[in-house]
Amino acid sequence: MLNIANRMNSVKTLIFSELNNYKKRKQQEGMEMIDLSIGSPDQPPPSFVIESLAADVKDPAQYGYTISGIDAFHHAVSSYYQERFNVKVDPHKEVIQLMGSQDGIVHLPLVFCNPGDIILVPDPGYTAYESGVHIAEAEGYPMPLLEENGFLPDLSKIPEDIAKKAKMMILNFPGNPIPALATKQFFTEVVAFAKKYNIIVAHDFAYSELIFDQKQPVSFLSIEGAKDVGVEFNSLSKSFNMAGTRIGFLCGNEEVIQLFQRLKSHVDYGIFEPIQRAAVKALTQGQNFLKQNAKLYERRRDFLINGLANIGWKIKPSEATMFIWAKIPAGKQSLSFTYELMDKAGVVVTPGIAFGEHGEGYVRIALVQDEKTLLKVIERIEKSGIIA
Ligand SMILES: Cc1ncc(COP(=O)(O)O)c(C=O)c1O
Repeated sequence: MLNIANRMNSVKTLIFSELNNYKKRKQQEGMEMIDLSIGSPDQPPPSFVIESLAADVKDPAQYGYTISGIDAFHHAVSSYYQERFNVKVDPHKEVIQLMGSQDGIVHLPLVFCNPGDIILVPDPGYTAYESGVHIAEAEGYPMPLLEENGFLPDLSKIPEDIAKKAKMMILNFPGNPIPALATKQFFTEVVAFAKKYNIIVAHDFAYSELIFDQKQPVSFLSIEGAKDVGVEFNSLSKSFNMAGTRIGFLCGNEEVIQLFQRLKSHVDYGIFEPIQRAAVKALTQGQNFLKQNAKLYERRRDFLINGLANIGWKIKPSEATMFIWAKIPAGKQSLSFTYELMDKAGVVVTPGIAFGEHGEGYVRIALVQDEKTLLKVIERIEKSGIIA
């Protein structure tokens, strides 16, 4: 019998592995399964990024530790933020490289939270926020994202004693699992709230480039005073389909960045240089690709939403991201509905409850298959009679 640390009691196996095991069982039984559960891009990075990587892996000089990242990467992030979001960040003092934004999301609470401290988290929210809370032995306080509030947290509903005890607030717009956008007005309220209660805001902007219908991304850091209270995560995983070549960054408040840098210097020794160089190319030469990539998801969104509407499943169109947040028929539970979809239609989605209590009543559908496969999904759901 191994003696495990107490913190592991709250670090649970994620529902994704359970769903994956069930999917494999179904496949072994001979059922063809279509997986729309994980947000892993099915498309490759731009070809100039692959070519850059392929050339650089042949360079023997690029195999050393890179510690906190090459200069060119820091400068590329800084100019990308200026050009894309009209935000100034100092390439060295206000940018830190990450092995994917997940690296920062789960480690940042270790810098600011003692056991029992409160972190305000979106509910439903991306599962890594809860992971970071647990690893730091902090307590997550859920901020419900409700349709009637445009899926924005209602800050006035956070009790005064909780706000006073909170060390951090995590936000994510456009969000996973809820593909909604924030408004400048909401972010302005967040800045005021964070200043009042001395809370660090960490905004996850991993989907900053997957925005539809000509809407514009709003960087939290573009709001006046935001850099006094907060930082923003970003990543090349979804923007440039580089999920496997792990690279992302955190930028914003200098003090937060410098403290996090101190922790990171004990955790890893940097990212493989060819990946950094490829990321520089993506960030500085990828504007056309970004437009095409967003269009691809927008087309898939329209295809699936229209197809499902035709068979009686009406879903609010996503404003952004690679996900659809679909309300399920009244009276059904998201987990049992997910298993029913696997059993009767051979389609794998993620139950809303996996993202928090307020995710109940919904499932998340990832647009990670082409339209031919999405057509099969629509036909199978229709045939299964689940929606009727
Ligand atoms: C909202 C959100 N943030 C962060 C991540 C982590 O991405 P990465 O670590 O690849 O940057 C994901 C991945 O799915 C995500 O959905």
